[in-house]
Amino acid sequence: MVAPYFFPPKGLYLFLFFSFLLSCDGTDQKQAELSIPQRVNELMAKMTLKEKIGQMNQYNGFWNVTGPSPKDGNAKEKYDHLAKGLVGSMLNVRGAREVRAVQEVAVNQSRLGIPLIIGFDLIHGYQTISPIPLAESASWDLEAIQSSAALGAKEASAAGINWTFAPMVDITRDARWGRVMEGAGEDPYLGGVVAAARVKGFQGNDLSSPNSVAACAKHFAAYGFAESGRDYNTVDIGENTLHNVVLPPFKAAADAGVRTFMNAFNELNGIPATADKILQRDILKGEWGFDGFIVSDWGSLKELVDHGYARDKNHAGELGLNGGSDMDMESYIYLTELQSLLKDGLVTMSQIDDAVRRILTVKYELGLFDDPFRYCDTIREKEITGSPEIRAGALDMAKKSIVLLKNDDAVLPLKKEGQTVALIGPLAADKNSPLGNWRIAGENSSAISVLEGMLKYDGNTIIHEQGVKLVNAIPAFHQEVDINTTDKGGMKAAKNAAKNADVVVMVLGEYGFQSGEGRSRSKLDLPGFQQELLEEVYSVNKNIVLVLMNGRPLVLNWADEHLPAIVEAWHLGTESGNAITEVLYGDYNPSGKLPMSFPRSVGQMPLYYNYKNTGRPGAKGADAGSVFWSHYGDEKNTPLYPFGYGLSYTEFEYSDITLSKSELDNGTKIEASVTLTNIGKVKGKEVVQMYIKDHYASVTRPVRELKDFELVELEPGESKQIIFEITPETLQFYSANKKWESEPGTFSLFIGTNSNTIRSIDFKLK
Ligand code: BGC
Repeated sequence: MVAPYFFPPKGLYLFLFFSFLLSCDGTDQKQAELSIPQRVNELMAKMTLKEKIGQMNQYNGFWNVTGPSPKDGNAKEKYDHLAKGLVGSMLNVRGAREVRAVQEVAVNQSRLGIPLIIGFDLIHGYQTISPIPLAESASWDLEAIQSSAALGAKEASAAGINWTFAPMVDITRDARWGRVMEGAGEDPYLGGVVAAARVKGFQGNDLSSPNSVAACAKHFAAYGFAESGRDYNTVDIGENTLHNVVLPPFKAAADAGVRTFMNAFNELNGIPATADKILQRDILKGEWGFDGFIVSDWGSLKELVDHGYARDKNHAGELGLNGGSDMDMESYIYLTELQSLLKDGLVTMSQIDDAVRRILTVKYELGLFDDPFRYCDTIREKEITGSPEIRAGALDMAKKSIVLLKNDDAVLPLKKEGQTVALIGPLAADKNSPLGNWRIAGENSSAISVLEGMLKYDGNTIIHEQGVKLVNAIPAFHQEVDINTTDKGGMKAAKNAAKNADVVVMVLGEYGFQSGEGRSRSKLDLPGFQQELLEEVYSVNKNIVLVLMNGRPLVLNWADEHLPAIVEAWHLGTESGNAITEVLYGDYNPSGKLPMSFPRSVGQMPLYYNYKNTGRPGAKGADAGSVFWSHYGDEKNTPLYPFGYGLSYTEFEYSDITLSKSELDNGTKIEASVTLTNIGKVKGKEVVQMYIKDHYASVTRPVRELKDFELVELEPGESKQIIFEITPETLQFYSANKKWESEPGTFSLFIGTNSNTIRSIDFKLK
């Protein structure tokens, strides 16, 4: 007998439908009512050990939208891992459609449907490229820096990204190191406030807003102190430098609420940072109470073996997790080793749970569990990418980043009419170099060149000559730059153009990929034939404005001695040429100040303004003429341009400093004030800088340290009183007691236009 079909009454359908709705609603409602820690706990209770370890595993993009990339041998395996919930994060998958594709696999195919966190090096803009971070820091404009990060986050998040590996907050004192372009320079205070501004910009007020991305303070720690400026090299610094110089910007980022940290490739005093328990577990997660997660740097777990610290991969996993690394970027070690390490009792379940809890918490905060595709809207992506708002932000930031290094006889601004301008140099029409190093999503050669910028002003005649080529071909991101050292073919034409010009603008410097990761230099001169070109052109026309594009301080002695004007224009991003031209023509008055000292010679490296006095700071009095003091026989100790230095088209006058009182007690403050007056003819901005010297302490202190600054804009003739507050906290440092504290004594306070200022006054801390 054939069983009759069973047709349930309509009412039953309705009943089932409504109970389904209710149950969904109920679950969502219930989830929404739970706090993030509760939601994380509920989820973790359902996870297997393998799934937990999967959250600690991060893969580089291997996905071609239509399927795993055939070029990558691992792709099939990685895809299976993704579908099985064994991947917590991916990096370098970008584009709303592409991110949706990988997210769909993670969410729809894996057992628990845990969304991925999508990481990307949003370092200086996404597709619209903003100035390199070192340049942005030269603005000393924290609002602008924050807003630049926020615009980058807006563009990147519209392309599916929800986590940036920025800001890099490594202090950098050695211009040979290629990654100086990526940080805020040499000073821990400036580094700290810039770090906080960037974190706030990336993360916004609400991490779950679709415009914000989680930030990542990197590289923890001391990566910037690579010996001899050679990337990835050994770091050996003492506790004093570690605590007083290296850690403060990381602490500032943590205090600003950064949700992730990345550790570093370097070893620090014999322990590779990736496995450094004291740094990661004791200081960061312990003392500082950081409750986000730490990702390793690319493959840095497996490099523990190369360092000679781990016996093998398995041992590297043990050292990495014990050291505090929560997520493994591209080492494939946690996924393969953690289970057996746990079984062997070499790592603990609570360490794994802690890492997973941290990672899931950030995912919940980003709203990824509420809508895993919140960053995957192709319409929004189209609207936002390269939008006028983002372009305008890039232009604004670029102008603010420019530093005027020299301007004798007011050569600048240039006259807008009736002039013949020879525009010379390999970077004058270059649309690629201004994009700088970390422009992964930027289109090659998409920057506005100086030539394009200058042609927008039609009052002058522009004659462009390249002079010499800088590179032989455009290198790939990972390739060595091939500098032209054979072809001087264009030199003659450049001289001819210069001969008959009223003014020569020469655009020289470093190729866009000459700074950045893996791009250390042993020389800090103008690469290739550029110095020769400069001197040849100078032999026919001395009226030269040198516009520099570079990712690090360069040695500019000859230019400084001979040329009337020098403009530091770094690698300024998409709007580079427009920004530079506005400055050259005086439509924008430059106000940038150097975030790193510019040396006189590469032999001075590392060079920084907040050095220690030593026992032999000079040979004076009876010792005059003696060699027995800390100096070079063939070069000055001082930089060519000091930290904090930069000129304007106007002039500022400082009054003497006055103090509200000359003795400071605990719980009180001193107010130090100066009056700043614009005594020039045009409106301008000045960064008023305050430095303090601690005369003696339980550990020696630098000759001076930046403690505060204010960016002030004044009309011609206008004055403003600037007041800085000094409390005992301002005077704290990591002391011989191994803690942050201030010690009674005498202090000098300096206020002025750069780190060389001599305007000072003394006070005491009781
Ligand atoms: C760099 C990191 C970067 C990571 C991912 C590494 O080589 O050191 O700064 O975030 O790659 O691209």
